[in-house]
Amino acid sequence: MEHTRRNIIADLLKSKDFGSEVLVKGWVRAKRGNKNINFIALNDGSVIHHLQVVAEVANFDENLLKLVTNGSCIAVKGILVESMGQGQSVEVQARNIEVYGTADQETYPLQTKKHGLEFLREIAHLRPRTNTFGAVLRIRHAMAYAIHKYYNDHGFYYIHAPIITGSDAEGAGAMFRVTTLDDKNPPLLPDGHVDYSQDFFGKETKLTVSGQLEAELGAMALSLVYTFGPTFRAENSNTPRHLAEFWMIEPEMAFYDIHDNMDLAEDFLKYLVQYALDHCYDDLEFLNKQNDDHELIDRLKLVISEKFERLSYTEAVDILKASGQAWEFPVDWGTDLQAEHERYLVEKHFGKPVILTGYPKDIKAFYMKMNEDGRTVRAMDVLFPKIGEIIGGSQREENLDALLKRIHEMNIPEKDVWWYLDTRKFGTAPHAGFGLGFERLILFVTGMSNIRDVIPFPRTPKNAEF
Ligand code: 4AD
Ligand code: MG
Repeated sequence: MEHTRRNIIADLLKSKDFGSEVLVKGWVRAKRGNKNINFIALNDGSVIHHLQVVAEVANFDENLLKLVTNGSCIAVKGILVESMGQGQSVEVQARNIEVYGTADQETYPLQTKKHGLEFLREIAHLRPRTNTFGAVLRIRHAMAYAIHKYYNDHGFYYIHAPIITGSDAEGAGAMFRVTTLDDKNPPLLPDGHVDYSQDFFGKETKLTVSGQLEAELGAMALSLVYTFGPTFRAENSNTPRHLAEFWMIEPEMAFYDIHDNMDLAEDFLKYLVQYALDHCYDDLEFLNKQNDDHELIDRLKLVISEKFERLSYTEAVDILKASGQAWEFPVDWGTDLQAEHERYLVEKHFGKPVILTGYPKDIKAFYMKMNEDGRTVRAMDVLFPKIGEIIGGSQREENLDALLKRIHEMNIPEKDVWWYLDTRKFGTAPHAGFGLGFERLILFVTGMSNIRDVIPFPRTPKNAEF
């Protein structure tokens, strides 16, 4: 075909430019028809809907039309016409078809019938070509863009935290080691341990679990910053809400206390959900239909309209203990809350998102600001319907002596965090921040139920294919 400027299917489906010549390129989702006429459903990823291409068999070489199979990639030049068919407003009368690549129906794994999500995980290289994953990927993109837009519009600066780190201070989870040492004959210390001073960085290094500590350094100069990058946790938790590699958004704000932090988290989440409703409605409508409960869009609207319930961990534990529920994990003051407890509070007790604060210091990180009671910290977790924890954050301990006391109590070597401590020595400032798990957000917004289905290529225990 002589020209390569193609028309985007999303645009054509809205067009009324009947009679004009168009060029469309995409993948065939289905072909039906008879010996006189073929109907080809074409998708180019720009929108969930397919464009109907009508090919009169007599106008084409029959061998060419045989190559136009489900899964094949084609270019079609033709005329845009008003469609008489059900379910579409326009179609293209094909004049010319070029087959870029056919797909052998014997071996092409995606059939036109509906496939299970578990099967699709095994063919994650092809699953973007399904309606569900097309929708998820478009929404994922829109949310990433909306996150940057939100912070840019609110005067925040995007900070790139390192992915390789020499510090294990966060204590958020087991870490993956990064090394270039010979795996057969690593240099050893006299005590038999590996001598990491001979490794690439001259010390032992890991993949980061969080960009927070570096974001704090940025906030102590730029006031309002955020990170948005991949983070890694080597916990062996095979749950529908955990990945070994996931993306996290971590805003960090100088001069914010825990209440400012909660206000920002609530406003931010509502903005993102509204953005999805405003910009991804076709995809959401599709997912809503596909969802078992058909309540996705209602859940999204609920989050926007309700003020999040704010209460303390201690109050939450009292509610949970009085609930009379048979928990898989027993609840007692001092234990960490599990998803079943978080979801009970959100879905059964309050019927809206919940922000819990004032967690026991022993189940939270060293950097969280101590409350006056000496046993709880100014932590906050935001809990969402169907998800449980979607955000974790806190006001930070800005007082050097108080921070040192916590570091010693938790046996964190001072030499590992000397740079972090410096911010408390030089011009320390009250500040706060939080982390939003990007895939947990996408789980919520898409209504998908397994986190492996909202990231293109999930990394989980025993799984790093593709
Ligand atoms: O609660 P977390 O561990 O908090 C932090 O990492 C802090 N440094 C954040 C901060 O204050 N800047 O993790 C934050 C969020 C969780 O609420 C959850 O949404 C998500 O990250 N998350 C995971 N998402 C997918 N897979 C995992 N294994 C996750 N672990 C945490
Ligand atoms: Mg947490």
